[in-house]
Amino acid sequence: MSDASPPEIVAEARNLQRTYAVRRGLFRAPAQLRAVGDISFRLERGRTLAVVGESGCGKSTLARMVALIEKPTAGQLTLIGADAVSPPHERRRELRQAVQLVFQNPYGSLNPRKKISAVLEDPLAINTTLSKPERAEKAREMLARVGLRPEYANRYPHMFSGGQRQRIAIARALMLSPRLLVADEPVSALDVSIQAQVLNLLADLQAELGLAYLFISHDLGVVRHIAHDVLVMYLGHAVEQGPKSRIFARPLHPYTQALLASTPGLSSQRIVLKGELPSPLDPPSGCVFSTRCPHVQPRCREERPALRALDERLVACHYAEQFLDGAPAVRADGPVLAAS
Ligand SMILES: Nc1ncnc2c1ncn2[C@@H]1O[C@H](COP(=O)(O)OP(=O)(O)OP(=O)(O)O)[C@@H](O)[C@H]1O
Ligand SMILES: [Mg+2]
Repeated sequence: MSDASPPEIVAEARNLQRTYAVRRGLFRAPAQLRAVGDISFRLERGRTLAVVGESGCGKSTLARMVALIEKPTAGQLTLIGADAVSPPHERRRELRQAVQLVFQNPYGSLNPRKKISAVLEDPLAINTTLSKPERAEKAREMLARVGLRPEYANRYPHMFSGGQRQRIAIARALMLSPRLLVADEPVSALDVSIQAQVLNLLADLQAELGLAYLFISHDLGVVRHIAHDVLVMYLGHAVEQGPKSRIFARPLHPYTQALLASTPGLSSQRIVLKGELPSPLDPPSGCVFSTRCPHVQPRCREERPALRALDERLVACHYAEQFLDGAPAVRADGPVLAAS
C-alpha cells in the first residue's frame, strides 16, 4: 500500500483582496483603502499557517474573509473543495460549519448571561437534530477535551479566568466539528504562562482532530511555537511567505528581518527602521516597505517587487539575493523596531 496520498487542502486563497471605501468629508469622494492587497495561500489538513505583521497590516481583514464573515472585493477562496466566495446553495451550511473563528478577547466573545452549557449547546441545537441530553453530553465531553471540568457547564463566563475562557471559546468553536479554525490573536490577551498552555492545547487538538489553523499573531515568539508556515504581511501585502523553518533560519525580506530582530530571543541582530508606518490610504509607490527599508535602492521606490520563489519560500524584494550568502543582513546597531 502506498502512503503517498495527496495532502488534503482545507483552504486555498488566490489573489484575495479587500478594499474599503473610507469617507473623507462631505464634499470629497470616498477614498479606497486597500486593507488586503493580493494574498494567496494553501492550507492543508493538520497544518498551521501563521499570519504576522504590525497593527493595521490587514491580518484581521484576511481572517474575516477566510472565516466567511466578510466577502473579498476580488480573488478566489476555496474551502473544503467548494467556492467560498459565492458558495453553491446546497453547501452553504456545510461551509459555515467547516470554518470557525476564535477571537483575541474571550471576555467580549462569550455572552455573560449565558451559562457555559448554553454557549456550547446552542450551535448543536441550531445545526443538528441531537436531543437535549445528547447535546448536554457532547458539551461535557468537549469541556473535558479542552482541559476543563465537565461540571463547569453550569457556570457563567465571569466565573472563569482568561485562559479558561479562551478554552471555552475554543470548545465552542469545535462543537460543530470544523475543519479550519481561524484564530485571531487567540493568546495575545493572556499571561505568558497561560499562553503556553493554550498553545499546547491547540497543538494537541490539531494532532487529535487534524484541524487546520489560520493563526493570526503579531508575536513571532508565539508563531515560532505553533506555525508550520508563515505569511508576513506589510500594508496589506505579503512580503515573505513559506515554511517557518526557512523563514526563521534566514529571513530574506528586510521587513521580516526587522520583525525577527524586534522579538526577544529570536535574533541577535538589531535593525534600524526609519520613519513611520505609511497610511494605508496613501501607500508608497514601488515596494510598500521602501519608505522604511534599511536597504532601499532607487528601483525600490519605482517598481513594486513581485512575490517570487527564492530559497524555498516566496519573497517580494528586488534585492533579496544579498541576504543569501550568510553575510550579515542588517546593521548591527541602532534602535530596535517596536513590534505592533
Ligand atoms: N470596516 C473597515 N472600514 C474601513 N477600514 C477598515 C475596516 N476594517 C479594517 N480597516 C482598515 O484596514 C486596515 C487593516 O486592518 P486590520 O484590522 O485587518 O489590521 P490588523 O493587521 O488586524 O491590525 P491589528 O494588529 O491592530 O489587529 C487598517 O488600515 C484598518 O484601519
Ligand atoms: Mg487585528
